[in-house]
Amino acid sequence: MRKKVIAGNWKMNMLPNEAMNFINNLEPIAKNAKCDVILCVPYTDLFYSLLTAQNTNIKIGAQNMHWEEKGAYTGEIAPQMLKCINVEYVIIGHSERRQYFAETDETVNKKLKAAMANKLIPILCVGETLKQRELGLAEEIITQQTELALEGLSKEQIEKVIIAYEPIWAIGTGKVATKEDANNAIKQIRNKIASLYGKETSENVTILYGGSVNSQNAKELFSTSDIDGALVGGASLKVEEFEKIINSI
Ligand code: 13P
Repeated sequence: MRKKVIAGNWKMNMLPNEAMNFINNLEPIAKNAKCDVILCVPYTDLFYSLLTAQNTNIKIGAQNMHWEEKGAYTGEIAPQMLKCINVEYVIIGHSERRQYFAETDETVNKKLKAAMANKLIPILCVGETLKQRELGLAEEIITQQTELALEGLSKEQIEKVIIAYEPIWAIGTGKVATKEDANNAIKQIRNKIASLYGKETSENVTILYGGSVNSQNAKELFSTSDIDGALVGGASLKVEEFEKIINSI
């Protein structure tokens, strides 16, 4: 059975005191959740969040990292720096990083390998733009992003990766993909993994949907065959809203 996951991506939001309050309030819901609950928080919230989430079911992730172990990379954070404070997850290749910070399929692949080498679980984001979808290129884009990101990883490592299908046109726009479209895209990603690494591996990878998920549309998305949960942006900033999404799975 694949793991079900609800992950929040706080992006550049939440101060440490807000993070700690949020985690304290979420704790009783996470305790009874039928899925893994992950919060991917800004670097400056990591330490506070990890301490507050100790002895709870809430897991903490970062939103990015560099692939090198150390060195002259001003402003960057190394995988070991995350690992040594007990961070368990890290988002890799979010479309906002690809768009605003020049991340490429090549750097995403380097980061995935570095995460694995440091026993961090990567949450790999893939997704097409509206233009690409309108041109009928969505499948090609998302399967290619997946293939290039996973290149060089073993089957065992791939089964640990969490993939998030996040169509760029659905992020922060209120335009959620239909459950059929989201499920189909996720099936295409799974088929690609099956063709490269075998069906068993593909059936074991947790694949999430992300893009305007909220308490109103979550249940419907989770009723599908291949959507194993959600990567939630805006709706993960309000504890009541995030709780409802967790309870929808
Ligand atoms: P929204 O849920 O705000 O659309 O953001 C999705 C996202 O980018 C999660 O990584």
